Amino acid sequence: MTVHTNLTNQKRKFLKQLFTSSFASLTLPAWANAPNDLFPSREAITALATNDDPSEERYWEMVKKQFSIPDHLLMVNAANLCPSPYVVNEQVHTAHQRLEKDVSFQLRSGFATEREQALQLMADFVGVRKEEIGITRNTTESNNIIVNGLDLKKGDEVVLWEQNHPSNGTAWEQRAKRYGFTIKKVSLPANPTAAEELIEPFAKAIHSKTRLLSFSHISNTTGMALPAQALCQLAKEHNIFSLVDGAQSLGMMDLNLKEMGCDFYTGSTYKWLMGPLENGVLYVNKAHLGHVWPTIVGAGWKSESATVDEKLCLLGQRNETTLSALSAVLKFHHAIGKKQIEERILALNSYLKQQIREKIPAATFITPLSPTFSGGVTILQLPGKEAQILFQKLYDQYGIACAPTGGLRFSPHIYNTMADMDKVVDALIAITV
Ligand SMILES: Cc1ncc(COP(=O)(O)O)c(C=O)c1O
Repeated sequence: MTVHTNLTNQKRKFLKQLFTSSFASLTLPAWANAPNDLFPSREAITALATNDDPSEERYWEMVKKQFSIPDHLLMVNAANLCPSPYVVNEQVHTAHQRLEKDVSFQLRSGFATEREQALQLMADFVGVRKEEIGITRNTTESNNIIVNGLDLKKGDEVVLWEQNHPSNGTAWEQRAKRYGFTIKKVSLPANPTAAEELIEPFAKAIHSKTRLLSFSHISNTTGMALPAQALCQLAKEHNIFSLVDGAQSLGMMDLNLKEMGCDFYTGSTYKWLMGPLENGVLYVNKAHLGHVWPTIVGAGWKSESATVDEKLCLLGQRNETTLSALSAVLKFHHAIGKKQIEERILALNSYLKQQIREKIPAATFITPLSPTFSGGVTILQLPGKEAQILFQKLYDQYGIACAPTGGLRFSPHIYNTMADMDKVVDALIAITV
């Protein structure tokens, strides 16, 4: 009880600091007071700091107020792109204004410091060392750095999940065509009841020539979540590399990459992490950095580069104004709690699935119903209805932004409430009768 109270008090203090400190010294420009502006009222910010019980829906309503989504729109498309909280938008705008006034080397050296901070916070966020993290532009780039960076030759084989995203599927095919190695694709049961059903097919596909196993942690086309830790362990047992595409898990799950045991992990900051645009993450286990050739070599690159960021992510001039907001969004996640965020996303999906099952019995789920084998994505089909048409109607008539990917894809996040899930179900009923 005492421990809980202390934690709660600490958390409240931290939230207050987070949501008030960055505003204390800021003079808001006139346009910031326009309707739907990018900055929140102080009331909304401090409200989150004083309502700190995530078991209450009221708490999540306050979280929702940290985002600038207007009332007539409902965003359930986190698997594709997330809005950022005000604290992140503010950081990007402030950095951009600073840069527009002064593009000197002197000013920009501050961005280099911010990059270092972001690397440390990101490393802490996923439980690895700073030198094992690099900041790329997105998951696509991070995946391709590994695809193109490993030495693979004729006779070698890579094992992929057939549901891999093109940046981790087609990218391998192109590379294989050029260098003569082969690819084996594994298909998995659509409705697994035990993790073994998802591990066994990969185990059967691996043989003496296999060099790497790669899969999406959570599929963007079915929403199925794979037992990443067990699969990485399988790769280890066969002495092969493991590449986990985390586009659908970074920021959604409470991750620890050391526990997962992957050799490489990739992600984008603007999906579930709700962070700045055009930033990606690449993790390379320190023991394997020597096995990855750089795809891009830019000014400042050194053959003795010892960190992932220096060796693999030196991409010339970057948009430092967005990168500078990465630390802000990681602090935002910490303020709410990584575990709380994962639990909330799973709860939103479970509620959505349950409501759809109850109220639209004709709907078929592409995504497994069990939270063990799914994440933040719920994909379904309605008989005789094209997903593309429903997707468009939901946006045009109800302001609901989802995706026509693998069916009708909903991916709610912490800026959604349970009432939002009810609105989605009501709209689905209305457009399908
Ligand atoms: C599993 C997976 N991998 C990679 C990507 C590519 O992400 P990005 O466009 O951010 O590079 C996506 C995008 O949805 C994805 O779902």
